[in-house]
Amino acid sequence: MEKIAFYDTKPYDKVWFDKLNTDYEIKYIESKLTPDTAHAARGCKAVVAFVNDNIGSETVDELCEIGVKLIALRCAGYNNVDLKYAKDKINIVRVPVYSPYAIAEHTMALLLSVNRKIPRAFIRTRDFNFSLNGLTGFDLHGKTAGVIGTGQIGRIFIDICKGFGMKVIAYDPYPAEGYNIEYVSFDKLLAESDVISLHCPLTTETRYIINEASITKMKDGAVILNTSRGQLIDTDALLQALKDKKIRGAGLDVYEEETELFFEDYSSTIIQDDVLSLLVSLPNVIMTSHQAFLTDEALQKIAEVTLFNLKQFFDGEALQNSVVYQK
Ligand code: NAI
Repeated sequence: MEKIAFYDTKPYDKVWFDKLNTDYEIKYIESKLTPDTAHAARGCKAVVAFVNDNIGSETVDELCEIGVKLIALRCAGYNNVDLKYAKDKINIVRVPVYSPYAIAEHTMALLLSVNRKIPRAFIRTRDFNFSLNGLTGFDLHGKTAGVIGTGQIGRIFIDICKGFGMKVIAYDPYPAEGYNIEYVSFDKLLAESDVISLHCPLTTETRYIINEASITKMKDGAVILNTSRGQLIDTDALLQALKDKKIRGAGLDVYEEETELFFEDYSSTIIQDDVLSLLVSLPNVIMTSHQAFLTDEALQKIAEVTLFNLKQFFDGEALQNSVVYQK
């Protein structure tokens, strides 16, 4: 039986892999994949990795040295992989779609939580504090949602917004053909949106797409949502805009410095990241720990597609879900 090294394992990851796997001996490893932990995959031809694993050149070298031939990402995004370096050295596959609904629905959950201050209200009522002071929100109906990136997740989020009676405008340099949505320029989207939601990948072009300059162009009191990747937002600029009340609130499932922190319990530790500490302390910021994907349906699909990717590799077939560096 082929052995697979499975990095950054959490109990919820195992559920569907254990249920569906019949072909492999899976070695579950709690640590993230890094140059220092790559050696744990000795004896395996394939490793399974996740969003915050470090798959840079050093890790690729370490894996190649011990004979690993495949990195199977159990996620859609691959910005944590040095694709250029990996080319012709090691195969990379991913799960291109698992449940775009999971992420789009979580995005709306963040918007509702920020706007209607549900977490604050919950804490109050549990303490028998039934005051409504400071809990005023705004109607979503009739407001404008600006969606950046109209791929699978962005389009489902658009449908959800329409269900709330919102007007939706979108920006995407590669507009979806035949898709009935009002595409506008990036600047127009910034100027007209009451809610701005990021659904584009992290690339060299999109890194810090939300920065001091783009925030300045936004409507006063806009709400920012990010369930894509942390580095799409310059967090210092966002923090300043929240302090200046230029931005009304933010719902964030991702954070630019999340790699060392997210998915772990640091509740008994003093966090050294002052930006993060300040951000989560603001009453108008809701942060979740990269959990938008976390539904039963998504976890099942992730396991199914990853096992399919592994089977294609071990059967010597063409890899349907491979990711290859393109200039
Ligand atoms: P997709 O590939 O279907 O769509 C991405 C869209 O972004 C495409 O339409 C593309 O043309 C557009 N785009 C590319 N460059 C752009 C730019 N400069 N400005 C605006 N739009 C641009 O991807 P999908 O499945 O919708 O996922 C979107 C992102 O969501 C992923 O890249 C990933 O970072 C994130 N994600 C987050 C998860 C979470 O748990 N928080 C889980 C899964 C994905």
